[in-house]
Amino acid sequence: MITIKTPYEIEKMRKAGMILRDTLDIMRDNIKVGITTKELDEMAYKYITSCGAHPSFLGYRGYPASICASIDDEVVHGIPSEDKVLEEGQIISIDAGVYLDGFHADAARTFEVGKVSKEKQRLIQVTEQSFFEGLKVLKDGVRLGDLSSAIQTFVESAGFSVVRALVGHGIGKQMHEDPSVPNFGAAGTGIKLKKNMTIAIEPMVNMGKYEVIFCPDGWTVKTKDGLPSAHYENTVVITSDGAEILTL
Ligand code: MF3
Ligand code: CO
Repeated sequence: MITIKTPYEIEKMRKAGMILRDTLDIMRDNIKVGITTKELDEMAYKYITSCGAHPSFLGYRGYPASICASIDDEVVHGIPSEDKVLEEGQIISIDAGVYLDGFHADAARTFEVGKVSKEKQRLIQVTEQSFFEGLKVLKDGVRLGDLSSAIQTFVESAGFSVVRALVGHGIGKQMHEDPSVPNFGAAGTGIKLKKNMTIAIEPMVNMGKYEVIFCPDGWTVKTKDGLPSAHYENTVVITSDGAEILTL
């Protein structure tokens, strides 16, 4: 069931979104060669709880941490670990969720560790830009496929591929609500997005082929070809003439 939020509910999601934005800024400011993803996770936990909020991911289907930290060929859902020490030239995607006063916000960014290759830099930029290409088409009444197609077209014209096995989602009282929000699809198809629907748009972009593998730890998703992947996500609310980003 797709829920339409009231202005009061959207204001709650905005507050959760601002805590999440600040959490991701803390991640950006602390990512450097030598830090472990466990340390980043602890910082995120401390900050989110100090705001009186709860990390949405912690305990979600048994997930053991507050962030997902996915390095290089890890696409999403990398589990923070004291054994994962960041190295020069890696890219790391940090995904996190904040639950405040009954509502969730969900967002992700991909960061560079030290000096990163030009091609990895371009992967990060294209992934981020693909979100904004999708955002441009959003407004009350537009079809979901118009959003998906805008993202896919942009990514593929840059020579990269869009992950098919994982998608974005509606969000609100639950972290994952209807509808599914694919980053691939045909314009003019799918449900109509309506004013005050809230969705998490999250392109996952692979440098090589789109196929992924699910690791035996039950969480980590990696590229099948071993090439790097980037992730960018924001929670947005559809408005009459566009969309407002709640996590930026
Ligand atoms: N942020 C992910 C999503 O957008 C969810 C992460 S799964 C979790 O759907 F277990 F880590 F929470
Ligand atoms: Co999400």
